[in-house]
Amino acid sequence: MTLAQSCNHFLDLKDIPAATLRHILEVAKEWKEARRGMPKGMVDAGAPLSGYTLAMIFEKSSTRTRISFETAAHQLGAKPLFLHSGSMQLGRGETIADTAKVMSRYVDIIMIRANTHEAVVELAEEGDVPVINALTDRSHPCQLMADIMTIEEHRGPIKGKKVAWLGDGNNVATSLIEAAVKFDFSLVLGCPEAFAPYDDVLSWAEEEGGDVRVVTNAEEAVWDADAVITDTWVSMGDDRTGSRVRALEPFQVNRALMAKAADDALFLHCLPAHRGEEVTNAVIDGPQSVVWDEAENRLHAQKAILAWCVGKL
Ligand code: CP
Ligand code: NVA
Repeated sequence: MTLAQSCNHFLDLKDIPAATLRHILEVAKEWKEARRGMPKGMVDAGAPLSGYTLAMIFEKSSTRTRISFETAAHQLGAKPLFLHSGSMQLGRGETIADTAKVMSRYVDIIMIRANTHEAVVELAEEGDVPVINALTDRSHPCQLMADIMTIEEHRGPIKGKKVAWLGDGNNVATSLIEAAVKFDFSLVLGCPEAFAPYDDVLSWAEEEGGDVRVVTNAEEAVWDADAVITDTWVSMGDDRTGSRVRALEPFQVNRALMAKAADDALFLHCLPAHRGEEVTNAVIDGPQSVVWDEAENRLHAQKAILAWCVGKL
C-alpha cells in the first residue's frame, strides 16, 4: 500500500499560503473540540495517520515540543520515533544530506529541532518526505500556530487585533512577524536596538504590506495591545552576558507594563519562562495569562500540521 503521497514541508510560515495556514488552524480547533473529555492517550476516531511514522530529531533540549509531537502522532494513530541527535551518526559527522536520504526510506515525516536553520532546509531539500521545523536559531513556526489558536480561542478572530512583543527579537519573534502578515494583525515589537529582529524578515513583512513596527520603548510597544507576548532573554545557543541581560531588563513584562495594554489584554509566553527576568510571577500566574492553554494548543495545532504535511487535511 502506498501511504505518503503529498510532501508538504512546514519550514516557515512565510512560505505557506495564508489560506492554508488558516485551514490548518481551523482543523486544529475542530479536532481539539472533537476529543474534549477523552483520555489523552486515546487515538482519534478514524486514526487519520494510521500506518505513518514520524521521526523527531532533537539537537536541542525540549519539553513541550517533544511531548506534544509524540502525543500528536499517537493520537493520530501514527508511530513517533524520538531521536536525540547526539545518539545518531549525525552527531558524529554524518551529513544532513545522507541522513535525509536514509531516513526517507524508513519514515513518512521528519520533525527536527536544529541548531541552524540551514540544516532544516537541507534536510527538506535532500530527503523525499515532509520536514517540520520544530525550532531553529531563526524561527519557531509551530509555536506561532498554537499562539494564534490561543488568542482566537479567548478573543475571537485575530485579524485587525494589536499584538505586542517584548524583549529579544529572536526565533519566536521571526515567526510572529511572519504570522502578523499571514493572519493580518498589527504587531509592535519592543526590543533593544542590539536585539532587534532579523532585518530580512522585517523587510519581507514590509514588502508584503504587513502592519509590523519595531520600537525601542516597552510602554510604546504594549500601548493598547490585545495580547502581550514575550520569551526568554537568552535562547538556546545564546550566551548569557551581563550586557545582554541589562539591555533587556527594561522590557520585562510586569504588572505596570501590562497596565499600559488593553484592559483585557492576554499574556502569552512559549515557555520555558525565566520568572523574574522576562516576566514576573504576578503576570504569568495572573488572570490575563493564557500560557497553559498556549502550551496545550501546541498539541492540537501540530496534529493538523502533521496531517497537512502528508496531504490528509
Ligand atoms: N515552547 C517550546 O518550544 O518549548 P520546548 O523548548 O519545551 O519544546
Ligand atoms: N527562544 C527560545 C524558545 C524556546 C522554546 C529558544 O530558542 O531557546
